[in-house]
Amino acid sequence: MLASLLLAAFFFPVHLVKGQIPSELLSPLGPQKILAAERARPNLRWPQYTNAGGQWLWFDSGAWTSGFFPATHYALNSRRIQCGANDRNGLNIADWRALGINSSRGLPLDASKVGHDVGFISFPFVEELALNPNDATAIRSINSLASALAGRFSERVGCTRSWDTSDPTQFTVIIDNMMNLELLFASARLTGNQNLRNIAVRHADTTMANHIRADGGSWHVIDYNSTSGNVIRKRTAQGYSDSSTWTRGQSWGIYGFANMYRLTGDVKYLDTARRMARFFINNLPSDGVVPWDFNAPLNPTRPADSSAAALVANALLLIARQETDQGQIKYWTDNAIRILNSITRVAWKANWQSLLSNGTVHKPQNNQNTGTVYGDYYYLLAGNELIRRQLVSCP
Ligand SMILES: *[C@@H]1O[C@H](CO)[C@@H](O)[C@H](O)[C@H]1NC(C)=O
Ligand SMILES: *[C@@H]1O[C@H](CO)[C@@H](O)[C@H](O)[C@H]1NC(C)=O
Ligand SMILES: *[C@@H]1O[C@H](CO)[C@@H](O)[C@H](O)[C@H]1NC(C)=O
Repeated sequence: MLASLLLAAFFFPVHLVKGQIPSELLSPLGPQKILAAERARPNLRWPQYTNAGGQWLWFDSGAWTSGFFPATHYALNSRRIQCGANDRNGLNIADWRALGINSSRGLPLDASKVGHDVGFISFPFVEELALNPNDATAIRSINSLASALAGRFSERVGCTRSWDTSDPTQFTVIIDNMMNLELLFASARLTGNQNLRNIAVRHADTTMANHIRADGGSWHVIDYNSTSGNVIRKRTAQGYSDSSTWTRGQSWGIYGFANMYRLTGDVKYLDTARRMARFFINNLPSDGVVPWDFNAPLNPTRPADSSAAALVANALLLIARQETDQGQIKYWTDNAIRILNSITRVAWKANWQSLLSNGTVHKPQNNQNTGTVYGDYYYLLAGNELIRRQLVSCP
């Protein structure tokens, strides 16, 4: 038995690794569905999630998700740069960058319309800037979104404000906002305004101090008093309970802290990301399918969240990318691949408009078992990263 395993590993080392990666990640059906959705997209509306039959529902630019679909076109453009375009990978059916630029038109840059979720809206502009550092639209967009976010910062609390509240002294911060911080770094680089970078660091440090539990789990929401800066309450909005860990929030946190390490080199952020990631992996059920909340009851059923699965796979790969120890790199990578396999088995839907089903948009509002534009986006990005790592080859 052992001998034959060793023999197999000797003769097929690359294939053994490749065989574990679901082929759906690189399927031509992905680009085909994205292009079909782009063609069906009503003017100035963007897909956010699907109905129970897998048909996209369209939202206006004020939705927190409006940047994801343009960013998905850029993800396919990146894959075309990695792989070239052919029938087998399906990338030869569109000019993905042009679609990214076109579908970014009409995204909101005005703080009063966007609120706090500006990081996601900035994604396509950050991508365009990487391709063309002089693009005036991208520069203007990034700077205006960043300054809108900076306007929500409280020196006293040490965070940017999430939802507006009727009592202005109630200052609400959700863990999702760790995903905003890269935008502040991007704008600081463009403008030289180091205050933006300082705000990002303060927000991360305050979140690290208050949002993460001793066991590595997290609260979704912290209410602060904006007058005193003190914590009023630790609670949930989209999770099962105030003491539970909502898996998408945990995933935003892991990604956000791993990204803060990438942006600053400060190892406390990597340690936080690792601690939250270990909690995530240790709390997964044996089938590896990410539930919508780690503490939700198993009976009658606990819906999955394919978006948290696709997102956390990227977060684990972002940690892996920054580790130096081979054992650690393998640990995070293997877990990312395992999660991708499990969610592909459960949620890959050839006949839906979205790539994946089984996203949980908002379980307390009974919105689950849908496709999500953000789940599909992170699913495609995970494929790109596995190609970049040469763990799978381009079709
Ligand atoms: C993008 O928009 C321009 C101007 O409206 C149009 O000419 C072009 O065909 C569009 N490109 C794609 C790929 O849809
Ligand atoms: C915040 O604290 C001030 C007093 O320092 C108090 O008047 C106010 O009601 C508090 N706000 C909340 C939301 O607890
Ligand atoms: C996935 O969604 C389908 C409905 O589309 C549902 O029947 C199934 O139970 C869900 N699976 C999980 C693991 O949540």
